[in-house]
Amino acid sequence: MIAEISEKERLDALDNAIKIIRRNLPEYTYKCQDTSSENGIYAAIDNVEWTTGFWPGEIWLAYLESGDEIFAHAAGIFVESFLERIRKHIVTDHHDMGFLYTPSCVSAWMIKRDADAKEAAILAADNLVSRFQEKGSFIQAWGEMGADDNYRYIIDCLLNLPLLYWAEKETGKGIYREIALRHTATCIANSFRSDYSSYHTFFMDKKTGKPLRGETCQGYKADSSWARGQAWGVYGLALAYRHTGDRSYLDLFEKVSEYFMEKLPEDMIPYWDLIFTDGDEPRDSSSGSIVACGFLDAADSYEKLQEYEKARKYRKEAKMLLKAIYDKCMVRADEEGINGLVKHGTYAKKSPYNTCTEKGVDECVSWGDYYWMEALVRLGGTWKSWW
Ligand code: GLY
Repeated sequence: MIAEISEKERLDALDNAIKIIRRNLPEYTYKCQDTSSENGIYAAIDNVEWTTGFWPGEIWLAYLESGDEIFAHAAGIFVESFLERIRKHIVTDHHDMGFLYTPSCVSAWMIKRDADAKEAAILAADNLVSRFQEKGSFIQAWGEMGADDNYRYIIDCLLNLPLLYWAEKETGKGIYREIALRHTATCIANSFRSDYSSYHTFFMDKKTGKPLRGETCQGYKADSSWARGQAWGVYGLALAYRHTGDRSYLDLFEKVSEYFMEKLPEDMIPYWDLIFTDGDEPRDSSSGSIVACGFLDAADSYEKLQEYEKARKYRKEAKMLLKAIYDKCMVRADEEGINGLVKHGTYAKKSPYNTCTEKGVDECVSWGDYYWMEALVRLGGTWKSWW
């Protein structure tokens, strides 16, 4: 049985993370980190990936923890690049506007009242709304709108929706919430199986709008549960509850979480697909951090509902997931040849049945670093969520 991460270990983990982030600043201030590391080192890339918001998000978290203005300065530099990206539509023909603009720009608006960041995030929310398909009632994940081979959404999109709730609050326009609610309803109706495992991607019928079939891109096969997809489901449902107060989201959150936890190996570091429960398949530590964030978010909701036992349960399980990562995956600041925060993540592992291109297997992954840091900061108890 894994112990819970202690306060001393949490502070140690944050200390290591902030040291690594500080050391990385010169390389990634005018350049972004790639999706995943190669042999432990992130390539410096232009702002073109779906993941480039995570690194500025880490820098904002380092700022909040340390109070050192150097971090606010560096994270602020990224705002210009994100505004240019959305204004010029540089690789924005996909739904990952929340992953991109929430940790990079909603954060900058919340922390520094940066007006460019607010403008960028609202433009990103508009772009997300523009990807809504009436026939089928969903936000199309990838590629050209209406393309036959892409008439689908993916479970990951639940994490893009908080950007819409934020945009509604900032602008007073109800369309953002309406689209978020309609997409969530479609996702809930189709993405979860009767045992509360999940499909990664789901196709809709272009003519009738009826649900067609689940498939996978990054999971092992269509009817297995890709670990990160299940993790996006856990965190996404906790957030959906917080933004709406709809109890059915929280009830589903419990079931989807239970499936995730039941499939974990003894050491609590998730395999890249939950079909694997032992053996040598690669792990995806990032799924553990994402679920920990979801559990901590839900624990706050249960506390507000005065359901203290559930709040305690999810906080405890989050701390166990984080302890496993602390012991087995955390990068120490004095470790050589690696510049991420967390090892043993997996971006995309090729299987005989999936459609992804293999990349970032058993590496640091940008969101794995980010959600690790978010979970550690969340545990401190004072963080104001930008999701
Ligand atoms: N949203 C894509 C991924 O989790 O890899």
